Amino acid sequence: MAAPPTSRRLALGLILIGALCSAAAAARFAPVDNHLLACGAAAPAVLPDGRRFVPDSGCASTRLRSSSPSLSSAAPPGSPPPPSPLHASARVFSCRASYDLAVRRRGHHILRLHFYPFAPALAASRFHVGAAGLLLLHNFTASSPVVKEFILPVDSDVLVLTFVPDSGSTAFVNAVELVSAPEELVGDIGTLVTSGAAAQIHGLSSQVFETLYRINVAGRKVTPFNGTLWRTWVNDEKFLVDTDSANYRAWSFSGRIAYPKGNRQMTREVAPDNVYNSARSVRPGANVTWGFPVPAGSRYLVRMHFCDIASKVLYELYFNIYVNGDLAVKDFDLSSVTGFLAYPYYIDFIVDVKDERILKLAIGGSKKSLSDEVSGILNALEIMRMNKTSGGMDGDFSIDLDMEYVVGKGIGEFARSLLCGFIFAGLFVALVMLVLRLRTELRNNSGAWSWRPMDSGEGKLARAYQLVPSKTDY
Ligand SMILES: *[C@@H]1O[C@H](CO)[C@@H](O)[C@H](O)[C@H]1NC(C)=O
Ligand SMILES: *[C@@H]1O[C@H](CO)[C@@H](O)[C@H](O)[C@H]1NC(C)=O
Ligand SMILES: *[C@@H]1O[C@H](CO)[C@@H](O)[C@H](O)[C@H]1NC(C)=O
Ligand SMILES: *[C@@H]1O[C@H](CO)[C@@H](O)[C@H](O)[C@H]1NC(C)=O
Repeated sequence: MAAPPTSRRLALGLILIGALCSAAAAARFAPVDNHLLACGAAAPAVLPDGRRFVPDSGCASTRLRSSSPSLSSAAPPGSPPPPSPLHASARVFSCRASYDLAVRRRGHHILRLHFYPFAPALAASRFHVGAAGLLLLHNFTASSPVVKEFILPVDSDVLVLTFVPDSGSTAFVNAVELVSAPEELVGDIGTLVTSGAAAQIHGLSSQVFETLYRINVAGRKVTPFNGTLWRTWVNDEKFLVDTDSANYRAWSFSGRIAYPKGNRQMTREVAPDNVYNSARSVRPGANVTWGFPVPAGSRYLVRMHFCDIASKVLYELYFNIYVNGDLAVKDFDLSSVTGFLAYPYYIDFIVDVKDERILKLAIGGSKKSLSDEVSGILNALEIMRMNKTSGGMDGDFSIDLDMEYVVGKGIGEFARSLLCGFIFAGLFVALVMLVLRLRTELRNNSGAWSWRPMDSGEGKLARAYQLVPSKTDY
């Protein structure tokens, strides 16, 4: 007997929903290259977002090279629990060292370097970091926990990531991510804003970008756990320069963000729903301004994200966009470029910051606007610093990033550094096991317990540890 039409329709609906869900799951970005390294760690570290960072020693697609043994270091016992499992260990270099990261697909990659100075010696270390021959961090110190993110084009089969301690210092890193970026993330054209007329410039896709700010305007923090591409977006409130709250209004939207179907340029990887579904609007005739401290003397890419979640009908909003006080777009008509409400859109502006050390961005309500309350909108923004020369983010410095090796020696050193890593990993495991055993002993036999010597394997490792130079032993 045929099922009644209503239940058949229900079944059909369920199948449809299922198909949509699986299509959405299939559409999730899966990076071809996905190196996640927990440096100096003895065991994989699993993050709340589900990603698994593997120890940097003995990983098939990564090679650690150094001219003297690099040491893995664990946070000292008794220190406060680290904010992330990635912060429990570090790799410490006393000489130039590099990771060779295999690249399966050339093109743009996201590189994140995690620094968590859990020991005073790490906070005091001063070093340089280069990738693919370009100096990313010059004379860098990480006195507080920080993640440095770069977006860079890679056109070789191996990305060499080099750490060079400044003279008399060491270098360290807690974790490394090298992830393929989706093609739509980096465009080639931007609008250069100056006090004269704005001009289109080309060639952005060959530049290296350092992410300085990623802002979810009027929204909650978005983390690798609930965003896309494992990025973090923070609220804009503390960057607002205007104090007159009558000028702006915060919006949050519970409807669907209308990502264009079949458009490969505007996807959730550009910015996710929970970034577009909040915004600040500006009144006609008023300005809302944000100010961001930035290093002077650099060129910046400013990506402003717009999505009209405030209007009830199209063609009501007209607004001006100012970049560092200069008019970048006059009477911007978002409806004309999108054709829909709740449709995400972004514009890439390029701006040179000379001595001001602050980058000011503003939206200003236009007289052309048809609404009395909302004239313009901003949902999110990203500020990226661009490389100054083809040698470095800060310009050219005479820091040798090459890692030259006589093949035989290179392999020997490689083996030695691996061995060194294993010895430390072994020591760490031995310590953990000792602590665990003590705890069980205490629990099982809450009276007196006797210390028993560890069995042979661990004993050997502990002895081997004595042979390792203690210069960088934290
Ligand atoms: C790094 O900075 C320190 C202190 O400012 C300075 O002594 C040193 O020469 C710098 N090193 C390089 C390579 O610029
Ligand atoms: C995203 O997740 C973080 C926790 O990782 C939470 O604090 C935040 O509120 C979430 N944001 C949104 C927009 O759901
Ligand atoms: C808005 O900001 C721009 C750029 O700083 C300025 O030229 C303009 O006069 C401001 N408008 C208002 C109404 O304050
Ligand atoms: C930035 O680096 C890239 C890659 O090395 C290079 O092609 C580009 O010319 C550099 N930019 C500047 C402004 O020198």
